[in-house]
Amino acid sequence: MLNYVVGRAVRSPSGWSGVSSARARVAAGGRPIGRKASSSTSPTTPPAAGAAPSDGGGGSRGRGAYKAFFFAGTGFAAGAAFAHLRPDKARSGYATLCDSVVMPLLRMLDAEEAHTIAVKAASLGLAPKDWTMDDPILASHVMGLRFPNPIGLAAGFDKHGEAVDGLMDTGFGFVEVGSVTPNPQEGNPKPRMFRLEEDEGVINRCGFNSDGLRVVQQRLKKRQASAMNGRAGLLGVNVGKNKLSEDSSADFCKGIRTLGCYADYLVVNVSSPNTPGLRDLQGVKAIRAVILAAMDARDQVCESTGNPMPLPLLVKIAPDLTEREKRDIANVVLSTKVDGLIVSNTTVSRPSYLRSESKGEAGGLSGKPLTKMSTETIRDMYRLTKGKVPLIGVGGVGTGQEAYDKIRAGASLVQVYSLLVYKGPGAVPGIKAELADLLKTDGFTSVAEAVGSDHRPPRKASRK
Ligand SMILES: Cc1cc2nc3c(=O)[nH]c(=O)nc-3n(C[C@H](O)[C@H](O)[C@H](O)COP(=O)(O)O)c2cc1C
Repeated sequence: MLNYVVGRAVRSPSGWSGVSSARARVAAGGRPIGRKASSSTSPTTPPAAGAAPSDGGGGSRGRGAYKAFFFAGTGFAAGAAFAHLRPDKARSGYATLCDSVVMPLLRMLDAEEAHTIAVKAASLGLAPKDWTMDDPILASHVMGLRFPNPIGLAAGFDKHGEAVDGLMDTGFGFVEVGSVTPNPQEGNPKPRMFRLEEDEGVINRCGFNSDGLRVVQQRLKKRQASAMNGRAGLLGVNVGKNKLSEDSSADFCKGIRTLGCYADYLVVNVSSPNTPGLRDLQGVKAIRAVILAAMDARDQVCESTGNPMPLPLLVKIAPDLTEREKRDIANVVLSTKVDGLIVSNTTVSRPSYLRSESKGEAGGLSGKPLTKMSTETIRDMYRLTKGKVPLIGVGGVGTGQEAYDKIRAGASLVQVYSLLVYKGPGAVPGIKAELADLLKTDGFTSVAEAVGSDHRPPRKASRK
């Protein structure tokens, strides 16, 4: 779906060696630490696993798809050749080509087909690159790690760890792969990703389609050994559970133990709406048990790699929680001292103003319709955790102002996903530039100073 495709030269601690995360934290002075489908199922109920899979295309759409494949491929190839000859000068031309030619072509395809092409292109280094140095005001130290900028790619885009460096080169300060399940699984039948064009949203019910831990481990291992891996951006690894697994904690722990040594931070995803029972793990007892088990597995990784400092472990939560559920989670997070929260996953709610035909599809809604809801959830979690727990804010960020709103509400870092569907990765440098301007206009000298500033008396007139 990533209607895009996409540079910069800086160094990913995760790529150096098995103990690279420790190195990053020491260096940081860190503490030890669509197409429409006919489904009318309820938004919270994924289709039966045995439902007939769609081929994802009919006759004329199939021909359209071949044409789009052909032209998008030609566009990528031409742009890539140009960009490799004159990388610095060619960026804007190539980015423009991608935004104005390649993306519209990809949008002719089914959302998942377009996404598959985009990931492939990024894995081949064909995504538009951001060669500019990040404004120093954007550098952040969070959870003992140094992030060159606070804008990251959310989980679900590179689910299988196929294109980490190509994506990092588009200008992200960090890339999160996953969710990865222990065993490979297909996920829900296709189609399972839908663009809500009029609403700039996306509904997905992927259901954790995953290559599984072994395959992803091989990819990340290869990446770690690669000489090309000299980037400043950090790698997050998000772990999930298999659909039929009866022991969720054991699945998360397997993921952590297998992939932890390749990661700069780890995420336990208990909030996807597309895996039956997963969100129940957000209840107070269940989430405490999951966090404690995951922290234990994380500590084992640190011991086995000789890493003296705990690898940051975060939990990803939904935007659909009640006040009481949020309060319970905040208390568990404070008492267990887990390193952070990612707020939020997709929503199962459907705002009444949605206009797109696909609004009734089952699954999780992301993009613009989620913007305010996730920002308010960030605000709540910052308040309930008394600003003591780092938050990664995600949900409907499409501009620098929207990233800034999440930072002011309490997020230390921000992630994007659906943005890429509509604007492509060429939008990332613009978001960073706008964010840097907003910080300076409001008199902040760093992202850290602005984090949670909505909760404090204004030091200067806010732009909002
Ligand atoms: C197609 C798709 C697949 C996703 N898969 C995952 C996933 O596997 N694990 C996860 O934690 N979040 C997943 N997400 C949720 C995103 O990481 C993010 O939390 C959500 O989309 C809100 O951000 P956005 O509005 O910028 O897209 C997925 C989102 C989309 C659109």
